[in-house]
Amino acid sequence: MDYGETYSIIKKAGKKIVTQLPDAKIGDWKISHRIATEEDVKTQKLKAAMNGMYGEYAVFEPGNYVILSLNGYTIMSNTDMEIRTNIEVVQKAKGNVLIGGLGIGLIVLPIMNKKEVKKVTVIEKSKEVIELVKLHLPFNDKVNIINGDINEWCPDNNNKFDVVYFDIWEDVCTDNYEEMKTLMKKFRKYMLKKKEDRWIDCWRREDTKRLVYEDRFGY
Ligand SMILES: C[S@@+](CC[C@H](N)C(=O)[O-])C[C@H]1O[C@@H](n2cnc3c(N)ncnc32)[C@H](O)[C@@H]1O
Repeated sequence: MDYGETYSIIKKAGKKIVTQLPDAKIGDWKISHRIATEEDVKTQKLKAAMNGMYGEYAVFEPGNYVILSLNGYTIMSNTDMEIRTNIEVVQKAKGNVLIGGLGIGLIVLPIMNKKEVKKVTVIEKSKEVIELVKLHLPFNDKVNIINGDINEWCPDNNNKFDVVYFDIWEDVCTDNYEEMKTLMKKFRKYMLKKKEDRWIDCWRREDTKRLVYEDRFGY
């Protein structure tokens, strides 16, 4: 799948999720919908530019968005930035896949539909997120969603993954980098032996690493 094709598939999944996830609140977690108008888009772009984050919103179109939030803070949405930054995992997914973080299911839907994918195990820490999302989306029988903390959860030793991906962070911040390294080290043990047969990564790990270097060395 090339970049453009994968982008369109994830975008289409986002549109489906917008129509299928109902507004709901469980505990501190909430699913809500928002229509972004031309005016909203302009304001958001201006705000982002003033905060030196224009790149994040360079493509932000008017339209319907679904938002997963915790105590009013957005954790996940079907924005262009989320689509673009999750393209690689959808391209790489094959065989036995492990994902840390369910969110709104934006990447699970395209991944489970790939014929090269046999099984998708999703570890999600919040029971509320599972309750808000699982029953409303058409997950197929390749998908197994488990309530657990990816830092603590371990598969049984015979279960070897082809692809492992962690998307448990709501933003890019230097504090996430140590957790990324620890998770990658831990889960390499549960992957296929040959490096060329497997792929493991974290959402926006390279951007996070860049921030860590900027902080440490000023570049
Ligand atoms: C940004 S969202 C994931 C988005 C998801 N990739 C998607 O396609 O919609 C982050 C998710 O990770 C979950 N999470 C946070 N920390 C976690 C942990 N330690 N273990 C498992 N899930 C975690 C959050 O509850 C949230 O559902």
